Amino acid sequence: MKIKILAFESSCDETSVAVCAEGKILSNVTANQKVHEQYGGVVPELASRAHMQHIIPVTEAALKKSGLTLKDLNAIAVTQSPGLIGSLLVGVQFAKSLALALNIPLIGVHHMQAHVLANLIDDPKPSFPFLCLTVSGGHTQIVICHSPTQLEVIGETIDDAAGEAFDKTAKLLGLPYPGGPLIDQYARNGNPHRFSFPEPQIPGLNFSFSGLKTSILYFLKNAGKSQIYKPEYFATPKKTENFIQQNLPDICASVQHRIITILLNKLIKATEQTGIKEVCIAGGVSANSGLRKAFEETGKKYNWNTYIPAFQYCTDNAGMIAITAYYKYLEGQFADLSLTASARAEW
Ligand code: KG4
Ligand code: ZN
Repeated sequence: MKIKILAFESSCDETSVAVCAEGKILSNVTANQKVHEQYGGVVPELASRAHMQHIIPVTEAALKKSGLTLKDLNAIAVTQSPGLIGSLLVGVQFAKSLALALNIPLIGVHHMQAHVLANLIDDPKPSFPFLCLTVSGGHTQIVICHSPTQLEVIGETIDDAAGEAFDKTAKLLGLPYPGGPLIDQYARNGNPHRFSFPEPQIPGLNFSFSGLKTSILYFLKNAGKSQIYKPEYFATPKKTENFIQQNLPDICASVQHRIITILLNKLIKATEQTGIKEVCIAGGVSANSGLRKAFEETGKKYNWNTYIPAFQYCTDNAGMIAITAYYKYLEGQFADLSLTASARAEW
C-alpha cells in the first residue's frame, strides 16, 4: 500500500496544503497573505481570518493538482507547533475534522523539524547524520539530524532570528514587510564591502542579531557616519532619508553580507566540532540568493556535501509537513483527536 498524506501548514501567514505519496510530493499549493504588508508585520488576528478564507480553496487546489481524492488518503498531517496560536488552530481544527470524517490517522508535525526535513524532499538527499542551519523569521538554529525523527539542537539564537534581522533592517530602510526578499533584490546590485557592521562575539554555536539591528539603527540615524549612539551625531530625518535613497543597494548588500558571515562562521564551527560534512540549510532565509551562493562556496572550500531545498520548500510550505509526516507514519508516530496547537514547543 502506498502511503498517501494530505498535509496542512498554517503556523504564520502562509496557508499551504500539500499531497504526498510514498514520500514524493504530488502537489504543494500556498496562498500568501498580502493583507499584512500595510502594517509592516504579521497581524495575528488578520492571519487567522485569512487562513479561514484560504484553507478550503487551497485544499481543493492541492487535491486537484495531485490527481488524488479524499478517498485515496491514508493520513492527515498538520503543523501543531510552534507558531501564532490563532493561525495554528485553523489548520489543526481543519485537519482533525478531516481525519475524523475520513476515519484515517492524524499526524502532528513540529514546524522546525519540517524545515530541516525539507532537505529530504528532492534528490540528492543528505545522508545521516547531517547538520542543518535553519534560518527563518522566528528561529535560527543549527541541528544535528541523526534520523528523520531524531534531531538535536546544538546552537540557536539568544535574541532575534536571522529573518527578523532582515525584516527589521528593511523596516528601518522604509521597505514593506516581509523585507528579506527585497533586501536580497537590492543587494544584488550593491557592494557588500562598502559599509562594515560588527560581528557579535557570542561563545559556542549560539547566535545573536539584536546588536546588529541596533548598529544599523544608529548607522542610519547618523546617515552613515557612525554606528555609535550619540544623539548629537544624529542627522536630520531628511538627511537620513536621502542617505538611504542614494545608497540603498550598498546598505542592503553590506547588511546581508554581515548576516551571512555570522551564520556561516557558526556553521563552519559546528562542522569542525562535530566532524559532520553533510551540511544543509533550510527555512525562509535559505531562499536568500546571497546565502545560497556563499553556502555553496563555503562547502567547496571545506569539502562539505551541501544541500538546499528547492525554492518552494524554503519558505513556509506544506510540502515539508507532508514529508515529515511520511517519516512519522513509517515510525507509527500518530496523534489522536486530543491533539492541540501550541504557540511554543520544545523539541
Ligand atoms: O520560514 P519562513 O517562511 O517563516 C517562518 O517560519 O518564520 O521564514 C520567513 C522569513 C522572513 O523573515 C523573510 O523575510 C525571510 O524568511 N526571507 C528572506 C528571503 N525570503 C524569505 N530573507 C532574506 N532573503 C530572502 N530571499
Ligand atoms: Zn517557517
